[in-house]
Amino acid sequence: MSRVVVVGAGAAGLCAARHLLVDASVAQVDILEQSSQLGGTWVYTESVGYDDFGLPIHTSMYKSLRTNLPKEIMGFPDFPIPESEKSYLPAKDMLAFLQLYADTHNVTQHIQFNQHVQLIKPKCGATQELWDVTYKDLTTGISQTKEYDYVFVCNGHYNTPFIPSIPGLKEFKGDIMHSHDYRVPEIFAGKRVLVVGAGPSGMDIALEITSVTTKVILSHHLREQPRTVFPENLVQKPDVARLEGNTVVFTDGSKDEVDVVFLCTGYLYNFPFLDASCGISVEDNCVEPLYKHLVNIYHPTMCFIGVPYYVCAFAMFDLQVRYYLRSMNGSFKLPNREAMIEHWEEEKRERAARGYTKRQAHMMGPDQDRYYASLSSEADTEKIPSVITKIREESSIRFLHNLQNYRQDVYKIIDDDTYEVISNGKREIIC
Ligand SMILES: Cc1cc2nc3c(=O)[nH]c(=O)nc-3n(C[C@H](O)[C@H](O)[C@H](O)COP(=O)(O)OP(=O)(O)OC[C@H]3O[C@@H](n4cnc5c(N)ncnc54)[C@H](O)[C@@H]3O)c2cc1C
Ligand SMILES: *[C@@H]1O[C@H](CO)[C@@H](O)[C@H](O)[C@H]1NC(C)=O
Ligand SMILES: *[C@@H]1O[C@H](CO)[C@@H](O)[C@H](O)[C@H]1NC(C)=O
Repeated sequence: MSRVVVVGAGAAGLCAARHLLVDASVAQVDILEQSSQLGGTWVYTESVGYDDFGLPIHTSMYKSLRTNLPKEIMGFPDFPIPESEKSYLPAKDMLAFLQLYADTHNVTQHIQFNQHVQLIKPKCGATQELWDVTYKDLTTGISQTKEYDYVFVCNGHYNTPFIPSIPGLKEFKGDIMHSHDYRVPEIFAGKRVLVVGAGPSGMDIALEITSVTTKVILSHHLREQPRTVFPENLVQKPDVARLEGNTVVFTDGSKDEVDVVFLCTGYLYNFPFLDASCGISVEDNCVEPLYKHLVNIYHPTMCFIGVPYYVCAFAMFDLQVRYYLRSMNGSFKLPNREAMIEHWEEEKRERAARGYTKRQAHMMGPDQDRYYASLSSEADTEKIPSVITKIREESSIRFLHNLQNYRQDVYKIIDDDTYEVISNGKREIIC
């Protein structure tokens, strides 16, 4: 009978707990959450910087956010998001959904809130592998260390800003801000803003702030030019070559004056609580060595839920958890260390051959189907139906080319391969 610790009560941690709590081979599940509520990313707060306990504010949620994927593909396979008129939901609906998921599965009552995990290390001298987990009760300030058989790392990875090295950034005289700290557009009123990066946040926020700014420059290196028609005060530029005082010099040689450099440059994986002896390194945003982006190869009793990105997040969390639980309870056996390392090395070689950089080690996108299939077939567990990835594909294209209106589209899943989409008054069935 095993004792399990789950770090974090965001969507990934809740999903892990939901399955662990009903597994006959699991005796104890401790869900440790540093904040006072569940939901992680989906919790909106006006605060930025540090919280009352001196910890960095975790959430990067901004006030106006609506999901960038339709709710029809954002639920858990065994717990879809309830029917409603719209497909693209505000963040507060997603938070309510996670609350419902946790309440329905009796997870909420098991969460230990205000518990900050400080240190995880393999226990010295133990004959079988055990973990020492040190965590601090933030309300009393008292730390304790407990022993576990398994560790589920579910701490999220949209919290530690990635700051690119742009020559002249340090000397820039205006404001520098990262999207992690963005909440409302008003802070940019009357300013000329350089938005660096055109990921989901960069595109959305650049558009949102055009209503209050005098000028927005969206600098990016998207391979495919967005066909979205932006308001007149937004111009697109290539990458920034350097900053000179308040002047931005772009890689095409053009120049512009700005008041604010707004970095929508993404986040870094960060596991500050993992002792070096856990064997996990993060370099250039590649977390390794992990088998199938999930299992700590040197210590297979530790897993990471949710590392891949450009995925159908909740469905993937659920699949990863089912996969890992089946390895825990003996439904299938993980390969030995050498085989897992070889698998990871081969995957790296194969990705490199297709032009992926090290930074993109955990990027899925078009690789999603294959990744999901490899998990479900190895563990002999329920697949993620292809209709889910098909809708994701369509939604991402619509995002790029019709940013202003794509969130009015309404999707309906018909069967495992087929869906219906109503877009601009037109109804289409796609299979
Ligand atoms: C602005 C924004 C918009 C997004 N929009 C979408 C979208 O539309 N669709 C989509 O599918 N995905 C979206 N995502 C991705 C989203 O992050 C995932 O869908 C998912 O919610 C991530 O869940 P998680 O549990 O992995 O991490 P999180 O939600 O970050 O949860 C991690 C939890 O761990 C806790 N924690 C961290 N460290 C510790 C510690 N040391 N001790 C104890 N607890 C700890 C945190 O407090 C937090 O509650 C968005 C992300 C961002 C930032
Ligand atoms: C949750 O707990 C209640 C009360 O103990 C029980 O009746 C119910 O079946 C549980 N639900 C699940 C999904 O386990
Ligand atoms: C192992 O765990 C999986 C996933 O929770 C479950 O479906 C399966 O029934 C379990 N098998 C055994 C042998 O306990």
